Amino acid sequence: MKFLITAGPTRENIDPVRYLSNRSSGKMGYALASAAVAAGHEVVLVSGPVHLPPPGGVKLIRVVSARDMYEAVAEHLPGVEVAVFSAAVADYRVAEPAGEKIKKREDELLLRLVKNPDILGSARGTMGYSGVLIGFAAETNDVVEHARKKLESKQCDLIVANDVSRTDIGFDGDDNEVIFVTRGGGMERVPKSPKTEIARRIIREAERLAAS
Ligand code: CTP
Repeated sequence: MKFLITAGPTRENIDPVRYLSNRSSGKMGYALASAAVAAGHEVVLVSGPVHLPPPGGVKLIRVVSARDMYEAVAEHLPGVEVAVFSAAVADYRVAEPAGEKIKKREDELLLRLVKNPDILGSARGTMGYSGVLIGFAAETNDVVEHARKKLESKQCDLIVANDVSRTDIGFDGDDNEVIFVTRGGGMERVPKSPKTEIARRIIREAERLAAS
């Protein structure tokens, strides 16, 4: 099957030398791309800036900002059968990035932020995507309840939810512990395991959803 996977953080410029971003390492998305290739699928990996070698056999598209990622996804989504959105997309960008390096002057500096497009939330509607749709939910509380709301609002088939309040899993680490939240009230806890193993489980679940 044809997969599209988003991975890593996005960067939103403040001026030519500074940006807003987050702690995403891209490990989960790159593990997903490797697992999908290993399972015999064709993979387009749309990746924000990360320090990871590209997995062999994928078509890698490097992007920087959320808007770049949106454009790349919109371009490559037609014909895809499974889309997995694991990128930690910046929800906001700087409204007016400075063309030149901002010099320090006053004691306070206010940055006005504006909302970025919701890439996952645009897949079904604006982008007209009808394949299997998988999103991630990073939550600090009421994990399953929030994941279920995202499943509905973004019209996903599966939300992979994780508890980012825990310091032993997630973001930079090699392990994760997640909960699969599916349509019709389905829920499955995946115990703490290496991200490579979680990735294999997600790819298997994607194959099951595509066949159902
Ligand atoms: N996502 C996306 N584009 C965005 C923001 C998020 O594609 N601009 C995707 C992420 O890749 C992830 C899912 O949406 O698969 C959930 O992201 P999250 O930031 O947790 O959800 P939000 O909808 O932004 O909700 P909130 O921040 O309020 O929890």
